[in-house]
Amino acid sequence: MRNVVVTGGSRGLGLGICRTLIAAGFQVIAVARRDTAELADLREDVERSYCGRLHFRAFDLHQTSAIAQFVKGLRAEFGPITGLVNNAGLGSAGILATMREDTLEELVRLNVLAPMILTKSIVRSMLSERQGCIVNISSIVSTTGYSGLAGYSATKAAMNGFTRSLARELGPLGITVNAVAPGFIETEMTHSLTPGDREKVQRRSALQRLPQVTDVAAMVGFLFSEQARNITGTVMTVDAGSTA
Ligand SMILES: NC(=O)c1ccc[n+]([C@@H]2O[C@H](COP(=O)([O-])OP(=O)(O)OC[C@H]3O[C@@H](n4cnc5c(N)ncnc54)[C@H](OP(=O)(O)O)[C@@H]3O)[C@@H](O)[C@H]2O)c1
Repeated sequence: MRNVVVTGGSRGLGLGICRTLIAAGFQVIAVARRDTAELADLREDVERSYCGRLHFRAFDLHQTSAIAQFVKGLRAEFGPITGLVNNAGLGSAGILATMREDTLEELVRLNVLAPMILTKSIVRSMLSERQGCIVNISSIVSTTGYSGLAGYSATKAAMNGFTRSLARELGPLGITVNAVAPGFIETEMTHSLTPGDREKVQRRSALQRLPQVTDVAAMVGFLFSEQARNITGTVMTVDAGSTA
């Protein structure tokens, strides 16, 4: 069974991605700082009915200097890791002029530096297996822009660039690298948006609705499937037509 690491797999989009990949038969290792009741429920369901497997390992991805050792432990415990979803992220919002420098630093550390170092550590496993699939969770604001999200947007734009260049670097070795850019999705990250803001986003989208966690998870599931073997270096938008 192929091992896939999903960062931020304890809730929101990450939890939905875990559910989809497990149903597709993968052994998923969800990583976050804290376990959640929802993830524990999914683990119970998996034991009863799904075809894959689910594990949780606590790790704080801010601790970038400890990532290599953490991955070494995962490989020793589970064997080669041939899938990675870089999903954990911070959505810190604020007007740039008044934003604290340490908030910006945290954003870059968790949204850019940590996935880069994690990918570097896990790719070694993929190289020895000569197969692999990496999906980075970006955002439509990386290209559209959004007032109050300058720092966040910059981190997601960085991940788009990372995705494209890494796809070139790893393509000859049979490893695909893609990004998925969701529009606004209701999760803990976005709970501070007012109902008015939500309604505005919905009204402006081509389909007049908001995408769901399951829509993003389905796209990730597709990128992990055999049908997507010739798709690499892309940024797939899942936004109910917000950017159409
Ligand atoms: N929701 C949206 O509208 C939206 C739109 C576009 C893109 N995205 C992107 O989608 C991804 C997931 O977003 P979401 O809405 O599902 O967010 P969320 O509900 O806030 O979940 C974030 C996940 O990341 C984990 N995490 C946070 N800090 C961490 C750390 N230091 N170390 C390890 N894990 C950490 C959290 O667990 P712990 O707190 O326990 O560590 C949690 O599992 C993010 O990259 C986000 O930028 C979201």
